[in-house]
Amino acid sequence: MSEEKRTKIILDCDPGHDDAVAIMLAAGSPKIELLGITTESGNQTLEKTTRNALNVLQWIGRGDIPVYVGCQGPMVREKMTAADIHGETGLDGPVFPPLELKPQKKHAVQYIIDTLMAGSGDITMVTTGPMTNLGMAIRLEPRIVEKIERIVLMGGSYQHGNVTPAAEFNILCDPEAAHVCFSCGRPVYMMGLDITRQVLCTPDVVERMKKIDNCAGRLFVDLMAHFCRTQKEIFGLPGGPLHDPCTLVWLIAPDVITTKPMYSTIDISHGESYGRTNCDFFSYLHKPQNVRVAYAVDVDGYWDVIEEELRRYS
Ligand code: BDR
Ligand code: CA
Repeated sequence: MSEEKRTKIILDCDPGHDDAVAIMLAAGSPKIELLGITTESGNQTLEKTTRNALNVLQWIGRGDIPVYVGCQGPMVREKMTAADIHGETGLDGPVFPPLELKPQKKHAVQYIIDTLMAGSGDITMVTTGPMTNLGMAIRLEPRIVEKIERIVLMGGSYQHGNVTPAAEFNILCDPEAAHVCFSCGRPVYMMGLDITRQVLCTPDVVERMKKIDNCAGRLFVDLMAHFCRTQKEIFGLPGGPLHDPCTLVWLIAPDVITTKPMYSTIDISHGESYGRTNCDFFSYLHKPQNVRVAYAVDVDGYWDVIEEELRRYS
């Protein structure tokens, strides 16, 4: 393993097919130090997303990574799930052996607070689900804010949404939590649909990953069989947009994804555009540019990183 300094992260997720790939990248990359995984409801119920996170870790032989169970649902709005995309289990497709791993006893929000407070400001919060756990942690213990190195999230879109014309799923699941995080004052990097809709896992990508033929490659192929089918049925896409790993790909190979600072707010008005990320692409408003919004991705480079990281497994 290289002596290069690794980026310390907490991965907050709601697995989810694309979250599962993000977990594999986070757990395997020599550039990342995955301190812990926190779960919340999102793609499926909390119980199911937690089970899915544990199943993925067990499958890749990383039962040493602690998993903390988080919030049952959003701060204000009613709970949503994405069973249409991710299925009844939240991770339909792969068949896992009996689950032996168990989550930790400490609540995820408390784990986030304790870990950040004990840290020296060098921990990156990566979120690939609704931002409930992080938003709650900030509200419960505001002193953690200055301890967050940066927030890297998959969510939002400066263009259009994927659940309503305006809103993307992760943000719409808990717009109030996203508002707390976006406005906290620490650097925020938003990997939204604007780039994730460009990284479509088409059949040629699946064939390429099939050749890896290790535990990670096989799980990727099984995951994508279900995910790509539902993405085609619902959105008519020729391949599943591999949303969540964008966060890790950017941390591992920042040149692959280009960001632009923009003044960005969350619509928490409960109107038609509830949950929209309003990103001032052209700086019309001349307001402080609080979020670096991803707007371009080197698609070939993206798949190269995914393949390279999956190949690290045996
Ligand atoms: C996001 O929604 C979820 O269904 C995916 O896991 C991803 O985090 C994309 O809008
Ligand atoms: Ca997700």
